[in-house]
Amino acid sequence: MKHFINLRDISVKDLKKIISDAKRRKAQRKNTSTLDPDKDKPLEGKLLIQMFEKSSLRTRLSFYIAIKQLSGGALTLRPDELHLSKGQESLVDTAKVISTFGNAFMLRTDSEKKIDILKKKMTIPLINGLSPNNHPTQILSDIFTIEEIKKKSISKLQISWIGDSNNVLNSLIEASVKFSFKLNIGCPKNYEPSKKLLKWAKQNNSKIKIFNDSKKAVLNSDVVFTDKVISMNDKVNRNKKLKDFKKFQVNSNLMKNCKNAIFLHCLPRGSEVTDEVFLSKQSKVWEQALNRIYVQKSILLYCFGKLR
Ligand code: CP
Ligand code: NVA
Repeated sequence: MKHFINLRDISVKDLKKIISDAKRRKAQRKNTSTLDPDKDKPLEGKLLIQMFEKSSLRTRLSFYIAIKQLSGGALTLRPDELHLSKGQESLVDTAKVISTFGNAFMLRTDSEKKIDILKKKMTIPLINGLSPNNHPTQILSDIFTIEEIKKKSISKLQISWIGDSNNVLNSLIEASVKFSFKLNIGCPKNYEPSKKLLKWAKQNNSKIKIFNDSKKAVLNSDVVFTDKVISMNDKVNRNKKLKDFKKFQVNSNLMKNCKNAIFLHCLPRGSEVTDEVFLSKQSKVWEQALNRIYVQKSILLYCFGKLR
C-alpha cells in the first residue's frame, strides 16, 4: 500500500512506470465506452472514497471514471455532511472509519496539516487531489499529455510556466527534478516560488531558471503552462495581485516567441490567458483534461501495488 501525496516522495522509477502503464492502458481502450472496464479488472471489488473540501470538476469526474474502468467503485463524501466538519468527530477517528470501510481515499483539501496527519493514520492509500502546496495528480498527467503530443521524452523538452507560484507550479518544479527537464518560470518580482522548494530543487540538480520577463521565459519553449493568478482560497488583495500580473498574461503576442509550443492549462481559467490562445491550435487543454482519467488509473494501481 502506497500513498500518493507529492511527486518529490515518489521514486523516478515509479513515476515513469505510472506513465508507461497509463500509455499502455489508454492504447488498449480504443473504441471502448467510458464505463466499460479494462479487460484485466485489476481493482474489482475495491472502493475509492473521495472527498472535496474545495470545488472540483475534473478531478472529481476523472477519479470516478478511473476507478470504474479498473472495475472498482467510487463514493464521494460531502464534507459538510460529516461530523468532522462540524467539529463533532476527530480527524483521527474519521480516518480510522474511512480506512475500515474503503480501500483508497482521495482528498482535496485546504490543509497540509490534515494531509500530514492522515498519511500517518490511514491504513489505506491516501491520494492528494490538490492541497495548498501541491497538485501532483495534475502534473503527472500533464507530463503524460506532453509526451503523447510531442512524441518525445519530457527530458528533451523545454517547459515554461508563466504566472503565479502556486500549488500546480510547485508540483511542476518537483516534476522537473524527477524527470530532469528544463523549466523556465516567468513571474513578477516578489511572486517567485518558495526559497525552500528552490533550494531543494537546486540540491537535486534542477534545470530551473526564473525570469521576471514573460518573453524571455517562453523563448524557444516546447510547452507553455499557466494557471489562475488567484487560486481557490487565495487570501490576497485581488485587485493588487491581478494588477501585478498584468504583464504575465499568455496572449498571441507572447506565443509568437515560441511558435512550436503547445499551450496547457489545468483549468479552470481566468484572465491569465486570452481566448485567442486558449482556443488556438496550439492549445491542448481538452486533451490535457481528459488524460487525467488515464494517469489516475495508473496512480491508483501504483497505490494498490498493482502496476504492471
Ligand atoms: N484541474 C483541476 O484539478 O480541475 P478541478 O479543480 O475541476 O478538479
Ligand atoms: N491553482 C489552482 C488550481 C485549480 C485546479 C487552485 O488551487 O485553485
